[in-house]
Amino acid sequence: MSSELSPIDTAKFIAAKQATEYVESGMKVGLGTGSTAAWLVQCLGEMVRDEGLKIKGVPTSDRTAKLAREVGIDVVTLDEAKWLDVTIDGTDEYDDELTLIKGGGGAHLREKIVATASDRMIVIADASKKVDTLGAFPLPIEVLPFGLPVTHGLIEETLIGMDVLGRDIVQRMAGDTPYITDEGNFILDLHLKRIGDPRQLSLIVNQIPGVVENGLFIDICDVVIVGHGDGKVTVRDITNDTSEVVRFDLRDDDNIFADIAD
Ligand code: 5RP
Repeated sequence: MSSELSPIDTAKFIAAKQATEYVESGMKVGLGTGSTAAWLVQCLGEMVRDEGLKIKGVPTSDRTAKLAREVGIDVVTLDEAKWLDVTIDGTDEYDDELTLIKGGGGAHLREKIVATASDRMIVIADASKKVDTLGAFPLPIEVLPFGLPVTHGLIEETLIGMDVLGRDIVQRMAGDTPYITDEGNFILDLHLKRIGDPRQLSLIVNQIPGVVENGLFIDICDVVIVGHGDGKVTVRDITNDTSEVVRFDLRDDDNIFADIAD
């Protein structure tokens, strides 16, 4: 039962469950990456198996592709799908304007491409992801391995003119070796503490030749669905300017994904 889940997993699960309301048979759906998105993939898999939901899923990472196949979702590439009805993904931070920092799971490049190729992007999150000002979470920048020190230096120089509080740049590691993205690149995490002007930062950082993509999602997210440990879910749609509160009765909700792992 969901009551056996931790409050944080309950929050992620019910946010994901609520997001399935946006998915109908026949749709092409972008599948995000991370622990919250993994709940979504599980929920959709259950609907495919038990309710006859017919969707094509475009995963944003190799690990999401693996999970989606395991739960029975028909996985296609973005090239095959061409355009998607909706993408549902997690986030590391979001603000009032639904600007996001993503890439904590190292997948923001594919995530941004897939979300941008969708009619709608829906973010699912627990309440800890909401911030007044972005930047407490380190901003991931995917960079080419070629010329890494040059790219690193250029980013450092660029930050001098930016409205940020910290300037530490740390290469992401996987144990003793550099973290490698699905696209074969490195990630630099920028510890900025505060990002005063995300739009300016995003534009300028992306002009540096070795930068592939930064983790700021600006004017991409349409809806944020936030789950809480007590069964409350808030849905905010900035395109329609609506907010809604939904309540899940946790006692009745079978937790079929007790062994979920990201
Ligand atoms: C992966 C991401 C994830 O959506 C983000 O890191 C949130 O993950 P989680 O749901 O595990 O907190 O951007 O690149």
